[in-house]
Order: sequence, then C-alpha cells, then structure tokens
Amino acid sequence: MKLARLISKPLVTALVCALVVGSVSPVFAQATATTATTAPTKMANIVIVATGGTIAGTGATSTTTVGYTAAKVGVERLIEAVPELKKVANVRGEQVFQVASENMTDELWLKLGKRVNQLLAQSDVDGIVITHGTDTLEETAYFLDLVVKSSKPVVLVGAMRPSTAISADGPINLYNATILAASPAAVGKGVMVALNDQINAGRDVTKLNTSTIDTFRTPDLGFLGYLQDNKAHFYRAPIRKHTVATEFDISNLDVLPKVDIVYGYSNATRVPVDAFVAAGAKGIIHAGVGDGSVHKNVMPALTDARKQGVIIVRSSRVGSGIIARNGEANDDELDFVVSDSLNPQKARILLMLGLTKTNDTKELQRMFRTY
Ligand code: SIN
Repeated sequence: MKLARLISKPLVTALVCALVVGSVSPVFAQATATTATTAPTKMANIVIVATGGTIAGTGATSTTTVGYTAAKVGVERLIEAVPELKKVANVRGEQVFQVASENMTDELWLKLGKRVNQLLAQSDVDGIVITHGTDTLEETAYFLDLVVKSSKPVVLVGAMRPSTAISADGPINLYNATILAASPAAVGKGVMVALNDQINAGRDVTKLNTSTIDTFRTPDLGFLGYLQDNKAHFYRAPIRKHTVATEFDISNLDVLPKVDIVYGYSNATRVPVDAFVAAGAKGIIHAGVGDGSVHKNVMPALTDARKQGVIIVRSSRVGSGIIARNGEANDDELDFVVSDSLNPQKARILLMLGLTKTNDTKELQRMFRTY
C-alpha cells in the first residue's frame, strides 16, 4: 500500500499546518501558542450593558484626569476601542442609559435590573458586563446582587480616568471584566466588581479613594481574586445569600420605598431626621459614629420616627465592622434594626427591598443577617 493511502486526510492537514506554523517568526508562534492555551473552546456570548460614567467620559486634553465630562461615549465606541474583546468572547453592546453615576436613581436601578434579568433569561446570553460610573458603582452592584435572578456572571466595571486620558484604565478594565463574565469560574459568585485587575464581591466592595485607580476595596474581608494573564483567578467566594437565593422580586415594581440616610457627627441635631420623616421616608439609615452610636440630640427624633412607623436602621460611618445589636443602643426596646456589616449606602438598598416584603422589624433584622 502506498504511503499516501496510509495517511488519513485530517493527519495530512495537521502536518501541513505544523510545517507552516514552524516556519513563521518566533513572535507569531508564541502568540499562537498563547491563544491556543487561553481561548475557550466555545466563546461565551457576553452583553456589554452601558450606563455611563468616567469609563465613557471625555476630557479636554490627554492630561485631563479630573474635571472631565462623564457619560459621553456610547457603548459601540467603547467596544471598538478594545478590539481584543473579540478574542475572548462574542460581545455585543446595549446602551440602557447614559448618566454620571452621582445622578443614579431608584428608577434607573429598576430599569437596569429588569433589563439584566431579561437578558440573562435568554439562552444566547452567557454573562453580562455593566459599564458604570465609579461613584455609586458599589450601590448598583449590591442592588443587582439582591435582585438578579440568574447564576450567570454579572460584572460591573468602571474607570477612574476618562477614555481620552493618557493611560486610561477603561480599556484594560473592560477587557478583564469581559474575561470574568465569560469565565465558568464566575458562575454562581453573585454580582462582582472588576477594576484594577481585582475581583470584588458586590456586597462588600466600596470606593475608598477619590481619584486613584486602586480605589475599590473590600475592607477587612479582602477581594475574591485576580484578573491576570487573560484569566480569572478566584481565592474565595461570597457567603451571604445573593441573586437566585434572595426573596426579592422587582419584576412588578415601578418605585421603591423611600429610605434616607442621616449622618452622625459631633453637635448633630434632630433636623434631618424630622425633615426626612416629614417628606415621607419609610425608613432611615443612621450612619452613626463608632459602633453605630447615636448623638443624644438625635436619639429622640429617631424614637419619635419609629413611633410613627418609620423603620430605623443603625449603621456606621467608620467603613468596616459589624454593628453590635443592643450594643450602643437598646435595639430590642427601641424596636430598631442593625445593619450587620453593611455600610450606610448599602443598608439603604437592603432596607428598600426589605420594605417591599414586610414592615416587621424582626423580619427585616433577619434579612440584614442573611444578605
Ligand atoms: C461617575 O461616577 O459617573 C463619575 C466618576 C467615575 O466614573 O469615576
């Protein structure tokens, strides 16, 4: 039998390919090898949902890194600016709104949450990346962590420098966020935040610096993992219940109960509490000093508000730690709730969603121990 007949067609093709690859430059050969080891067998379908922020911001010059205009560039241009995205996923963009995130509202959250749930219910969507301003990114991440009804990855991403700046961090952050959203290891991890090569849990992450690119941190508890070498590397997972394991359903909601935050400080007065109650607040988060302590000038306003049916949650302005129930106030007697380890802005979100289910303080306290 002739040699040609002994060799199958696929084998001939493989040999020809090997000869061709062997004859190209070492740089190309190396790039081919890297792609071969990192490219998933079937690329994930990722939707990039754009909402605005600095990642879509433009400055007057390449050195304008403060005083620029956020929320200017549309999602198609964001995607075009990172052609490498096509190598890690099948991406498509959708602009749900275009705002600087200091102007976030409950209505925009409901719109975003409903759209994310619709997209994730589709069999041709494997994960979602949400581009967002960094100022309230942690709040949107926790809101979605509580209302998304899917285990598929949802990743929030932003940038600290506008798209026009030298060393803009948006492109690499968007690239890494897409890798994370396409990663099988990210399934079931809740809503995550990916900036500066780090993966943080939506519940725990907070913005800690006004301007540096390493601003997102998870005080004390630490981040979940790294984005490095075109891969997501996880070292821990969120324990608190999230996404498919929560009791919250926004599908029929058009508004959220009004909850406001009152800040604690030396010489504080009862004025803000009374004003919020008069304006119709259903709940007040008190961002107390230390372990959630309340100034003696403010405590009577909180107890009066509680008697009128307003839910009072003691939280803290310090940035980490658990509020001890019946520690700095007799919460059982006052019928107050404590925020567990949620910072005031996140406690507000959980109380709003909790109030869509119940006004019972014991039930609300259970939720703060659960999520
Ligand atoms: C914003 O939050 O929209 C502006 C600031 C930023 O994205 O870093």
